[in-house]
Amino acid sequence: MKLSLAVVSLCAVAQLANMVDARCENIRVRQEIRSMSPESRQRFFNAIKLLNSGAHPNAHDKYAELHIKHATLAHGDARFLPWHRQLLREFEKDLQRIDPGVNVPYWDWARDSADPGASPIFSSEMLGHNGGSGECVVDGQFANWSVYWPTQTPHCLTRKFDRGNSLKPWWGTNAINHIKTASSDYDAFRRGIEGPHGNVHFGIGGDFTPMWSPNDPIFWLHHSFVDKLWADWQAESGNNLYSYGGKHSDGTSANLNEPLTPWGIKTGDAFNHLSDKYCYCYAPHSFTGDDISGKSWNGTMVEVIPEPLPEWWIKQQNMNVTDVRMFEADMAAAVREGQNPKSPAH
Ligand SMILES: *[C@@H]1O[C@H](CO)[C@@H](O)[C@H](O)[C@H]1NC(C)=O
Ligand SMILES: *[C@@H]1O[C@H](CO)[C@@H](O)[C@H](O)[C@H]1NC(C)=O
Ligand SMILES: *[C@@H]1O[C@H](CO)[C@@H](O)[C@H](O)[C@H]1NC(C)=O
Repeated sequence: MKLSLAVVSLCAVAQLANMVDARCENIRVRQEIRSMSPESRQRFFNAIKLLNSGAHPNAHDKYAELHIKHATLAHGDARFLPWHRQLLREFEKDLQRIDPGVNVPYWDWARDSADPGASPIFSSEMLGHNGGSGECVVDGQFANWSVYWPTQTPHCLTRKFDRGNSLKPWWGTNAINHIKTASSDYDAFRRGIEGPHGNVHFGIGGDFTPMWSPNDPIFWLHHSFVDKLWADWQAESGNNLYSYGGKHSDGTSANLNEPLTPWGIKTGDAFNHLSDKYCYCYAPHSFTGDDISGKSWNGTMVEVIPEPLPEWWIKQQNMNVTDVRMFEADMAAAVREGQNPKSPAH
């Protein structure tokens, strides 16, 4: 228990200590991918490659299948955050069976929001660039990867940045922080965060935009960050940890005792990430001295207001258009405020 608390001090928030289950002998710390040593980053990539190495449909393919199968439960639904937390944990356990030293990192895409295509994430050392001919990803750790869903025939992993050659901005740190601070309960937070999470899926394109997005390993980095945002929000006040509510996509009301399909657990079981089923926390990031792709990344990008998500895609994602537009307006105001605090626009 003493050791556990020492590890927790590496995590972002000190008050997490009272969340730690005594059965968590070994608390895993999920780091920003740029803050990892090159060796631990490579071990993470290697474990994913091994997961996708058997004949299709293999252990890696089942994640895209789950995501397709449970689409209406995982999106536009109160269960969005706990459902993805459990999916991530299942994936992380699969990786740990291959290499017990691996934890799923997160990618703070909000810090890269003004020019996402310039992020070292999209480098040959990491996840590779935009798709080339046939939209196939041909460089990076997952170059020429074979994926299985939705056609159930092996095909290349694809990306098509904003349906073309470059990525437009998405929501940045001020916008995301606004969602965190303005949300007084879970329902507001979940509805607020699902939209900007969607901009990242929509922007990257190819396999990452539709319901088979777990085909692209960026999925795990992206959802780990979304999960961290929830964890940070949960830690902000004693009332937030088990705050839950809002609607399911079928219109029924959410509650902590409902089943979290298909895992045979209750939704409420996925709330404390330091309970014995999870035992992980998130480290805050520092990018100092971490020049991965040969270009230095100093983290001082200027935040801009992205284009609104297209209505057809919001609907396809099972999300509420009125809601998404309301939060887009709120975030735009927060970005303007961040650019020009306490002085009139010019
Ligand atoms: C991926 O495929 C492209 C195009 O066929 C080829 O040029 C490249 O060398 C391949 N990369 C790897 C790592 O296999
Ligand atoms: C960070 O990088 C940008 C773009 O390359 C540059 O304009 C800016 O001066 C740099 N800031 C610092 C503090 O080095
Ligand atoms: C969408 O959200 C708005 C505003 O929160 C709400 O009034 C409306 O009932 C929602 N529509 C559906 C179909 O859930």
